[in-house]
Amino acid sequence: MAPKRYTITSALPYANGPIHIGQLAGAYIPADIYVRYLRLQGADVAFICGSDEHGAAISLKAIREKTTPQAIIDTYHTLNKQSFAAFGIDFDIFHRTSEPLHHETAQSFFTTLLEKGELITETSAQYFDEEYQQFLADRYIMGTCPKCGNENAYGDQCEKCGSSLSPKELIQPRSTLSDKTPVLKETTHWYLPMQHYEQWLREWILEGHTEWKKNVYGQVKSWLEQGLQPRAMTRDLDWGVKVPLPDAEGKVLYVWLDAPIGYISATKAWAEEKGIDWKPYWQDGETRLIHFIGKDNIVFHCIIFPIILKAHGDYILPDNVPANEFMNMEGDKISTSRNWAVWLHEYLEEFPGKEDVLRYVLTANMPETKDSEFTWKDYQDRNNNELVGVLGNFVNRVLVLQQKYFDGAIQPIDWSRWKDGNQVKGLELVWGDEGFKKGISQSLEQFRYREALNQVMNVARAGNKFLTDQEPWKKIKDDPTAVGEVLHICVQVVANLAIIMEPFLPFTAKKLRPMLAQPETLTDWSKAGHLDILPVGTVLGTPSLLFEKVDDETIQAQMDKLEATKQTDNPFPAVKETIQYDDFAKLDLRVGTIVAADKVKKADRLLHFKVDMGFEVRDIVSGVAEHFSPEELLDKQVVVVANLAPRKLKGIESKGMILMAEDADGKLSFLQPDKAWPNGATIS
Ligand code: MF3
Ligand code: ZN
Repeated sequence: MAPKRYTITSALPYANGPIHIGQLAGAYIPADIYVRYLRLQGADVAFICGSDEHGAAISLKAIREKTTPQAIIDTYHTLNKQSFAAFGIDFDIFHRTSEPLHHETAQSFFTTLLEKGELITETSAQYFDEEYQQFLADRYIMGTCPKCGNENAYGDQCEKCGSSLSPKELIQPRSTLSDKTPVLKETTHWYLPMQHYEQWLREWILEGHTEWKKNVYGQVKSWLEQGLQPRAMTRDLDWGVKVPLPDAEGKVLYVWLDAPIGYISATKAWAEEKGIDWKPYWQDGETRLIHFIGKDNIVFHCIIFPIILKAHGDYILPDNVPANEFMNMEGDKISTSRNWAVWLHEYLEEFPGKEDVLRYVLTANMPETKDSEFTWKDYQDRNNNELVGVLGNFVNRVLVLQQKYFDGAIQPIDWSRWKDGNQVKGLELVWGDEGFKKGISQSLEQFRYREALNQVMNVARAGNKFLTDQEPWKKIKDDPTAVGEVLHICVQVVANLAIIMEPFLPFTAKKLRPMLAQPETLTDWSKAGHLDILPVGTVLGTPSLLFEKVDDETIQAQMDKLEATKQTDNPFPAVKETIQYDDFAKLDLRVGTIVAADKVKKADRLLHFKVDMGFEVRDIVSGVAEHFSPEELLDKQVVVVANLAPRKLKGIESKGMILMAEDADGKLSFLQPDKAWPNGATIS
């Protein structure tokens, strides 16, 4: 029995950076293909995603970049939402966890767990930064790894040897905020006693879901074998969903409690907009819930979140969590900090109109069972040999010949001359619901996308071979009826392709539909597998090429771009995107002199400057208090961005920005003219 409805989620990406191809191949393309496949069958689907906007990584980035978490999430939420849409990832909603609706939803979840006695409080000593007056999240503490001696291990993990750590294991811990040694201080948190659910998880997953992908099942098994511990569901942080209790000042929900609940709040927002009830999508046993994620998220989606849902009591559990492994690139791990990636927003700019090409290549190399690899050479080969050479070539030959010989009109056919059971003579395909179509369905339903895509391509391969073998161009003079029949068959194959390619190549399918003059039937999965999609007499539209070759220079340019980021031992970020002279000319830079500098009350990091700009004295607030004392800065000449939009910081209107150079350790140095210079002088 088909389920009544589907709730399909893709991992909510952190809104602290752009999306790269590894993420797209891991959690977004597979979900989108699956959803499109369901929608072609008319299924009731909610396809849910959004930005994960909390977590220590975001506030840490804000501190490092001297900006606010809000500014970061606004930038990347917008960028990532656009990138997904541009690649045809057809979410019903791309919500955000900073929305009030989400905060309420997550808080009420927490309250329910608390009221049901599912959380226990415990007080323990945690590292505290006295200068910043705050407890330090694991990521905010660095020190020497006890296992390998790496001096820059984080409080939760050593990235050198891969061990997972707890902050108290670090030798010589230091706060990443103040660089000082943190002290231990008592704090109270709410814990989820996960060990109570061990037995239940064994039954539900290890016995009940033996069909889950091996990589997922195996990870769950090894977690359960190691035994589960209580896990804190709250953190001492100021960025996140506030703990909804009176004596919980400065505490927020653990990001891995907060974020998955984001799926639910996003569903609520979507349903509200549509004017329907959200509840069946999360609370009706006839709904099938599937989480698409990458392998680093398995424990959260297969163990922690299900425990939370189960403990709450009103929710259904995931039917499957088809996590993918990682995609590497050009022989190396994809890395944000080393800029070793293809970023979606850059690809979209550099390869306009080629969204489906990337979708195709990523699907063909999807890391379904083990880590896989993206290379530009493979991108070029697959585009030129498979998309252009097989799929595009077949479709184009058929449509052009149909125009040339019959002005686009589909000719009659005497099937008795061609049919042989559920096959067509000379065409290596099995027709009917049990034919190639069933193979594709089965692969998709088992989340085997590479296999499914290959079967789609096999339909085009078979069509190509049939057309070549039939040689209509040699017969058209003597036997136009036979040629009409050959093309009739070929056009039906093309129509089948238009349907079955849609989940994988939605832009191409959309382009092809008008060429076949049958828009509706070509978005109906039930029509696929049959030879009567386009009726006799249908006049086809004007054909145009579906794909074009990618040349060597284009590929070389991408390789050069990557090579440039490789310059080893460079501790600084890669050079930003190229701008035009006009962009630069918009900056108005001026020489100024600091005439006053004061600490800002209740803001340890900020200094309030008065800068003599020659034509006026400006107030400028800057986050440099940890680096300089106010006195040492008096009378210093500086360079100021004079036309930056004013911004209010702690009640002071800051009008401009003082330029500084930063070294690899984050130390700052002022930019200034090499001799005393008139205030207000321009810089160019
Ligand atoms: N932001 C997380 C990551 O990028 C994924 C969150 S998935 C959710 O790894 F379930 F928490 F939403
Ligand atoms: Zn280590």
